[in-house]
Amino acid sequence: MIDLHSHILPGIDDGARTLDIALEMAQQAVTCGVSHMVCTPHIHRGYFDNSQSSIEAAFHSFNKHVKRESIPLSLSFAAEVRVNELIPVWHKKGELPFLGTYNGKNVLLLEMPHSHIPQGIDVLIKWLLRNNIQPLIAHPERNRELIAENYKFNWLQRQGCLFQATAGAFVGRFGDKVEEFAFRLLEERAFHVVASDTHDLVRRPNDMEAAYEVIANFDYKYAQETFIVTPGIITALVQKHAD
Ligand SMILES: [Fe+2]
Repeated sequence: MIDLHSHILPGIDDGARTLDIALEMAQQAVTCGVSHMVCTPHIHRGYFDNSQSSIEAAFHSFNKHVKRESIPLSLSFAAEVRVNELIPVWHKKGELPFLGTYNGKNVLLLEMPHSHIPQGIDVLIKWLLRNNIQPLIAHPERNRELIAENYKFNWLQRQGCLFQATAGAFVGRFGDKVEEFAFRLLEERAFHVVASDTHDLVRRPNDMEAAYEVIANFDYKYAQETFIVTPGIITALVQKHAD
């Protein structure tokens, strides 16, 4: 499996607190059946002021440790970018990290606030698409406005977004309402990728194996697509062209 969303780089956001924990998280991912993980620290202005260069430095350092420990997990890096008005500026400076490409567009892991859908997100999405950037919306199943008003999910779909569901949502990690909405999205085959969004070993562990079982039990082909094929296409690890 290919895990496109993780907070494993130690000490640069609210994910892994230490190198030792990060290495254990890498091992935990392998135990879950993950072979490749994209390190996606938060870029959240005023909270986690990471940049392409700070993430790159943290990534190279961590990657060396993973190799030294012979943990069989390949790594790459990008970021989980919180919606904000500087995204176009960062892009023009070449400071917007991408997960990879999909249908010829650079894929941006885009995070909304948990409480609501930010005003003007449609303008941002249009700008991104016009600039050859494909927004992949992180964990829509945990957005409280979407949970309360499901039809707004269809509105986001129509804007041209892709969606990343969180593995833990399918195994009760975020409570009943999130689980219920996640299963509604599953019934509609409405997300494109499932990722762990792991932050630590216990509270937010790597739930990929457990979630894969749940989803494969429901629809084996869709599980393959969302855990392996589509994330593999985005990271160029699966040599198959997207439709
Ligand atoms: Fe995240």
